[in-house]
Amino acid sequence: MALLCLSPLNRLLANKLSKRREVANVVLDFSVRTATTHTPQFLGLPKGAWSQQGGYETAGEGIVIGFIDTGIDPTHPSFADDISEHSYPVPAHFSGVCEVTREFPSGSCNRKLVGARHFAASAITRGIFNSSQDYASPFDGDGHGTHTASVAAGNHGIPVVVAGHHFGNASGMAPRSQ
Ligand SMILES: *[C@@H]1O[C@H](CO)[C@@H](O)[C@H](O)[C@H]1NC(C)=O
Ligand SMILES: *[C@@H]1O[C@H](CO)[C@@H](O)[C@H](O)[C@H]1NC(C)=O
Repeated sequence: MALLCLSPLNRLLANKLSKRREVANVVLDFSVRTATTHTPQFLGLPKGAWSQQGGYETAGEGIVIGFIDTGIDPTHPSFADDISEHSYPVPAHFSGVCEVTREFPSGSCNRKLVGARHFAASAITRGIFNSSQDYASPFDGDGHGTHTASVAAGNHGIPVVVAGHHFGNASGMAPRSQ
């Protein structure tokens, strides 16, 4: 199973995908109150979906989540593959690639962040690529993609510290997904 999160600009792509027989469901995103690091409790995951899957230690295992967004910061601890004693398995049947660029050097992918590609060629050809604010690279020039990927798939128990203030520990909703 794969869960794909599209940016809001990708309605056309969402429409096309929804017609394919491999696609089980396409759901339009909706607004909820921001809950920062308390979202898993708000959603009832620790006693609900996580406990049904054997706890946060295994919740999401076997699922590879794909994001189409602004990129990803491979140095973010939410995507480290060595923070728990349980190493991430090599996903079965995974055929994705990990593109290497100057900003996304070899070694950026690991067993948590198993693949990353960029799709800037069309924007470059059309002259709408702004190299002072984005990278022709899987690297995230914006932060949005890193944020959404960590919300869905980020490691469990990652301390969130902003300007010296501790906001608790963050976790992805499916912390063992890849
Ligand atoms: C490119 O991005 C920079 C930084 O955000 C901005 O100042 C500049 O106006 C942009 N250039 C174009 C052509 O949009
Ligand atoms: C947050 O995570 C750190 C380790 O990363 C751990 O030492 C600490 O106990 C955790 N805090 C809470 C409130 O779970």
